[in-house]
Amino acid sequence: MNENLPSLLKPYRERVEGALKRAMPESRPDDGGVTLAMSDSLFAGGKRIRPILCMLTFDAAGGEPCAIDDIAAALEMIHTYSLIHDDLPCMDDDDLRRGRPACHVTHGEAVALLAGDGLHTEAFAQLARAGNIPADRRIRMTAELASAVGVSGMVGGQALDLLAEREPVTAQDRLEQIHRKKTGAFIAASAILGAVGAGASESEIASIRQYGESLGLAFQIADDLLDVTATAEEAGKRVGKDAERGKTTYPGLIGQESSLRLAHELVDRSVQSLPFDTDDRLLAAVARFVVDRIG
Ligand code: IPE
Ligand code: IPE
Ligand code: MG
Ligand code: MG
Ligand code: MG
Repeated sequence: MNENLPSLLKPYRERVEGALKRAMPESRPDDGGVTLAMSDSLFAGGKRIRPILCMLTFDAAGGEPCAIDDIAAALEMIHTYSLIHDDLPCMDDDDLRRGRPACHVTHGEAVALLAGDGLHTEAFAQLARAGNIPADRRIRMTAELASAVGVSGMVGGQALDLLAEREPVTAQDRLEQIHRKKTGAFIAASAILGAVGAGASESEIASIRQYGESLGLAFQIADDLLDVTATAEEAGKRVGKDAERGKTTYPGLIGQESSLRLAHELVDRSVQSLPFDTDDRLLAAVARFVVDRIG
């Protein structure tokens, strides 16, 4: 792993935290606890990979300083919504997230559901409000994001993931499709939004899409591996749950060694797709981090 990566990313992380604080609606004592549940989940930590990818592609594509931080915050809000809903008893039924009790454990199921809905909606409001990014770019970003997290992306993938608990997946291409949808598309969109925001060319955007899609698939393979190899303390969430719930995962289907090799190959492919030469350095380092953390 690039030893300097944490310090190189520190300023980006700080920008994400600042943008999230600005983005969160003011907490009110009389709102039924929904804003408290939203901020509890949002500020519980997390790697902030998606907003950082967005900021890095924006910088690498030569974006002029503007409201990209607000777009990056929107991505983290959508991601946090997806985690809150993913943990609900009707989904993965997990009680630990980011090292803390899951949102529904602390706030109850109904408030957790609404906290997810609130984060999702506020995220799209952020895109509409990011006034100093030209409107045509914001419309393109909104369309890219909606398709990545909607039925053809994350929502569709989550539905297939749950279906696979009842009808186990035996073909690798089918599992790949689920992983690309539930996780890969959103990670790709995070990188794409930065490039679009910076006014990158269509060919640069296409290359960033390749980068993000390969990285996104590698990311979920790594997550599957961590469920087998990490401790709950390291992961900040329960481990060993995938096998327990009968989920089809990469290590379950092709074994740990082949999964690790494939994740590394995908990251190599992802780094090779980068279009911005020397400005790609941090994007390459973040991609490597995704697999280096699994060995
Ligand atoms: C976990 O995402 C959910 C998946 C899509 C695998 P992260 O690993 O990015 O979770 P945080 O944000 O760091 O908690
Ligand atoms: C989550 O996949 C994908 C999402 C869209 C949230 P997982 O269910 O494997 O994520 P974790 O392991 O609970 O973080
Ligand atoms: Mg899940
Ligand atoms: Mg889960
Ligand atoms: Mg997982």
